[in-house]
Amino acid sequence: MLNTNEIRKDFPILQRKVNGHPLTYLDNGATSQKPAQVINAISDYYSNHNANVHRGVHTLSAEVTEMYEGARKKVAKFINAEPEEIIFTKNASEALNLVAYTYGDAFITSGDSIATSIMEHHSDFIPWQVLAKKKNATLSIMNANSEGEIPESEYSKIEGAKLTSIVHASNVLGTINPLKEFAKISHENNGVILVDGSQSAPHLPVDVKDLDCDFFAFTGHKMLGPTGIGILYGKKELLEKMPPFLYGGDMVVDAKVDGCKWNDIPYKFEAGTPNMAGAIGLGASIDYLTNLGMENVRAHEVELLEHATKALLEIDELEIYGPKDPGKRTGVLSFNIKGLSSIDLSSLLDEYGFAIRSGFHCAQPLHDALGINPSARISFYIYNTKEEITLLKRRIEEVKKVMS
Ligand code: ALA
Repeated sequence: MLNTNEIRKDFPILQRKVNGHPLTYLDNGATSQKPAQVINAISDYYSNHNANVHRGVHTLSAEVTEMYEGARKKVAKFINAEPEEIIFTKNASEALNLVAYTYGDAFITSGDSIATSIMEHHSDFIPWQVLAKKKNATLSIMNANSEGEIPESEYSKIEGAKLTSIVHASNVLGTINPLKEFAKISHENNGVILVDGSQSAPHLPVDVKDLDCDFFAFTGHKMLGPTGIGILYGKKELLEKMPPFLYGGDMVVDAKVDGCKWNDIPYKFEAGTPNMAGAIGLGASIDYLTNLGMENVRAHEVELLEHATKALLEIDELEIYGPKDPGKRTGVLSFNIKGLSSIDLSSLLDEYGFAIRSGFHCAQPLHDALGINPSARISFYIYNTKEEITLLKRRIEEVKKVMS
């Protein structure tokens, strides 16, 4: 179990007040807060080591290369991959687009099918919509049932797809998709499967070998790390046969007037000066999470989910979307209250120091399919407590009274 009292001491921002109230940060699906260990790692990098990676024999450059590649090794270990299978990008959107622009461009052809689902974030929906149009391919969209799960009757869309791109855990419904099963179906039909792990890697133990996915994209800033650093895992044999994404320095080993020889993976996909400080900060966030243990992180969130589901459902006319069983979802709860707009609710809660999100959460096709308005969303992390949730319930009830 996590010791939230001790954990909270590591997060300077949790000391601040918002509108005269202690900050209650429940918008972790959008971005997480940063512990001093991560802030210090970034400050140490700029104060003591700053130089360009891979580009010099001088001491500072060698130190930075070791720190940057050390971060890559930490990421690889965190998801049970090999370091050369880890590509640093600027965020998860770029990681997903990288696959669309390289694998998709090289291997998707007219008449092919690409499968995805209705519960995707725009960053795992629009790249496939655009690619399908460009290549005259079909986009097959798996629907969700009223419990927010993809029913088995939809799985046949993976069977027909050369590429399936699917979210591991929905940023609206919290639904954890049965990836191992999806990967098996995809591979039995000679397809490849890409996973958007933005909302799962920060919250659940992830083992890409066990999941047997071909690609896995996630981002640093939702897992205690800085913004501007994302990750694409890809199976070595796939990355090797894919063309580069961007062209420039460091992705080439031999540049001649009449042609170039690309660098080995992962450097082939990392053109230009990368985000060294971001990768090193991400390494510190992975150390922090590894010390806590991802099983403990998950257990803490399940406990908060159980408490929050019960508390919120006691509020009249409040509807929660997604699976009711906390074992089937991550620590994200989206809801609406009849007669109260989610935007009004979140701005009134802000007056009490609560940070929650409202809107479509970059998942408008899902809201359309569910036939619902923009929703309010709370999302937990390692520093949240049951007391915060109990207080949230009380504040929502006060807001409801004022608005009725
Ligand atoms: N993708 C982030 C969210 O769901 C921004 O809030």
